[in-house]
Amino acid sequence: MANKQSSKMQSKNKDNTAVPSSSTTSTSKLPRLRVLSLFDGIGTGYYSLKELGFDIEVFYASEIDKDALMLTRYHFSDGITQLGSVTKITNETLDQIGPINLLFGGSPCADLSSVNYRKRGIFDPDGTGILFFDFYRIWNYLQTKSRRENRPFYWLFENVASMELKNKEYISKFFECQPYVIDSLHYSPQRRRRFFWANLPNIRQLSHAREIGLIGADEPKLEDYLEKNLDRQANVEKVGTITSKRSCLQDGKSRNPVSQDGQFTGLYITEIEAIFGLPPHFTDVGDLSIQTRQKLIGRAWSVQVIKELLKLLDNTFAKK
Ligand SMILES: C[S@@+](CC[C@H](N)C(=O)[O-])C[C@H]1O[C@@H](n2cnc3c(N)ncnc32)[C@H](O)[C@@H]1O
Repeated sequence: MANKQSSKMQSKNKDNTAVPSSSTTSTSKLPRLRVLSLFDGIGTGYYSLKELGFDIEVFYASEIDKDALMLTRYHFSDGITQLGSVTKITNETLDQIGPINLLFGGSPCADLSSVNYRKRGIFDPDGTGILFFDFYRIWNYLQTKSRRENRPFYWLFENVASMELKNKEYISKFFECQPYVIDSLHYSPQRRRRFFWANLPNIRQLSHAREIGLIGADEPKLEDYLEKNLDRQANVEKVGTITSKRSCLQDGKSRNPVSQDGQFTGLYITEIEAIFGLPPHFTDVGDLSIQTRQKLIGRAWSVQVIKELLKLLDNTFAKK
């Protein structure tokens, strides 16, 4: 309970000091962020922007998972305005919420990921892959409107790098650009290779440097993310991709990444939070079970990676 409280206090304190009321004006000449986050999950986008010190004027989000919604409400109720299902966001909704200068999101990947042998791809109306088209529809409307009104518009769409080549090519055709590939293993002790279609300034350099391994000597190692007082030792430097299932690290090379008291064992949920760059007990809200917390984190963005990407907007938008 003490941990829960401190987790809330941490986020709330940061939040309360950082969230501007809509009347607050920034001292910077740069514009304030007006964000729309689709498939918002546990609010890693909002959390990262706050950690980076951006001055957020409005932050709209679309999410339908009740556990994810409870979590973001608990931590960020002052800052995030929820809009409901992405499928219900119409052009009228977009006109009503006013100009958006940053759109981001990663649609559900279950029907794209190579680990799902029954995946349906992006065109099956009964799958979740098709939700990509809601991102595209909204992206297209906002981008066209911003161009017409001569306003800057930045965006980022994320999904798994293990998708079939044809799906990558379909998505690239819609966005009229190829994705950048970034693996969280350069920023955290987890392998998590992701595609990012985006127009963030200088993203090419960031992605290129990491892909060809220019930077690497001081990359994070698992041993630095384990609970300190329990004499837990890392058996590997990096774990494989952490998914929504508790059993995700029980196969292949990642098996039993930790030793404790002479036994092989898995990762604590708090260690998984740390690996994703989240504060301790971030997902310990209400009566969420360990399985539910794993589900929410396993779908999430690596905060270290998303911060690295959003940092590219440093000289474009106002900071507090
Ligand atoms: C890959 S996860 C994105 C996680 C997020 N980037 C994060 O860091 O937590 C996809 C999210 O889309 C949400 N989702 C599924 N259907 C949706 C819909 N119709 N409208 C909005 N969100 C939806 C899921 O609940 C899930 O949280």
